[in-house]
Amino acid sequence: MWALTLSLVVLATLHVSSVSPVSPRSMTVRLFTVAGIVNSVNDLEIAAEVTNTGSEDLKLLKDGTILDGSGYTRAFFVIQDGQDVPFAGLNAQISLSGANADAFMVIPRGQSVIVNHKTIGSSFDFHSMGDGNFSFAPAIDFQIITRSHSETTMERLTLRDSEFNTVHIVVRHTSTSHGGHSIAKRAGITHPDPSKQTFIETSYKEAKILAYLAIAFSNDALAGPSFYTYFKDNNRTVLKETYLGIRDETGGVPEISYADPHHKCFPGVISYTDYSTKNIHVCPPFFQEPATHELCNGTSLDVTLTRSGRLFRELIHVARPTLDVVSGCLLSRQLPAEASLLNADNYACYALQAYAYFVC
Ligand SMILES: *[C@@H]1O[C@H](CO)[C@@H](O)[C@H](O)[C@H]1NC(C)=O
Ligand SMILES: *[C@@H]1O[C@H](CO)[C@@H](O)[C@H](O)[C@H]1NC(C)=O
Ligand SMILES: *[C@@H]1O[C@H](CO)[C@@H](O)[C@H](O)[C@H]1NC(C)=O
Repeated sequence: MWALTLSLVVLATLHVSSVSPVSPRSMTVRLFTVAGIVNSVNDLEIAAEVTNTGSEDLKLLKDGTILDGSGYTRAFFVIQDGQDVPFAGLNAQISLSGANADAFMVIPRGQSVIVNHKTIGSSFDFHSMGDGNFSFAPAIDFQIITRSHSETTMERLTLRDSEFNTVHIVVRHTSTSHGGHSIAKRAGITHPDPSKQTFIETSYKEAKILAYLAIAFSNDALAGPSFYTYFKDNNRTVLKETYLGIRDETGGVPEISYADPHHKCFPGVISYTDYSTKNIHVCPPFFQEPATHELCNGTSLDVTLTRSGRLFRELIHVARPTLDVVSGCLLSRQLPAEASLLNADNYACYALQAYAYFVC
C-alpha cells in the first residue's frame, strides 16, 4: 500500500518542479532496453543515455542515480501493474568532503554519457511480484555539486516528465530471481575492535533518544514551526508513527556493523543500508562523526548530522521506504511537502532539531 503511494508521490513531485522555465541546468535521460523479453531477471539490462541539455557543465553525484552502473544503487523505479517492485539494493550516505573523483560524473554542456545497468535483477525483489511486464523509469532526482566562494555545496535537480522515458521489459521467469539475496551475504560479523563497537552502540542509543525526542517534539505546541520547516502540512500522526517504529524497534533488525561485505565503503561513504537484509554498514568516516551533544556546543546541524543523526537516517531507511532526494538539513528544509515525506534526512534533521530544543 505504502509502496504504491511512493511511486504516485514521486510522480506528483514531478509536477511541482515542472513549472520552472528553461534552466541553465537541465538534463534528459533516455532508457534503452537490450532485450524487451527476457527469460530471467539475471538477463535484465538497460542502457541509459544521459544528456546535459542546459547551458552549464554539470558535476553530479553518481550514487543513487542512473549515472552509477556499477551495481545495486537505486537507479530506477520499477513497477508492475501499478505496484512498486521493492528495492533490494544498497543505499549509501555520502560526505561531499570525503568523496573522491570516482563519486562524481562531469557532463559538459551539450554532451551525453551512456551508462549500462546489468545488476538490476539483484537490486529489486522481482521474485515477490511474479512473472510479467515490468516498467522501468529512472530515479528523477540528481544532486549537482556547485562551488561558490570556495564553498562546495549540493543543489537538487529533478527531471521533468518530458525529460525521461519509461521502458517495458517482460520477464518470463521471475522465480529465477535471487530477490536481492545474491548480494545479501550476511556478514556474520564479530567486532574485534571494542572501541568501534562501543562507538556504534553509543550512536545507536543516541539515535533511539532522537526518536523519543522527535515524538515529544511533535506533541509540543511550541514545536509547530519546526514541524512545518521540515514536513510542511504533512499529517503529524503519520510522522509520529514512523518515529515510534524506530523508538520501539527491538533487536533482530537491523544488524549494525563495520564490515563492508559489498565493498561499498569507497571514499566519502559514511554508511549504507542493505535493503535485502535491512543491515546497516558503517564505513570509516562514520567514526569521525561528532557526538550528538556537540549540537549544544556551537555545531550546526547544517554542518553535520552527528553520529546519531547519521545512524538515524539509516534506521529510517529500514523503517519505511524512503529515498535520498537531497542530503543535508539545509536542502531538506527546501523540499515541498510530498518530497519531504520521502526524504530520509528530513526525519533525521527534525529529530536533531528536537534534540537541540529539549537538551541544549
Ligand atoms: C507492457 O506494458 C506496456 C504498458 O502497459 C505496454 O505498452 C507494452 O505493450 C507491454 N508489453 C508487452 C510485451 O505486453
Ligand atoms: C492523519 O492520519 C491519521 C492516521 O492515519 C488519521 O486518523 C487522521 O484523520 C489524519 N489527519 C488528517 C488531518 O488528515
Ligand atoms: C565544547 O567545545 C569546547 C571547545 O571546542 C570543548 O573544549 C568542550 O569539551 C566542548 N563541550 C562539549 C560538551 O562538547
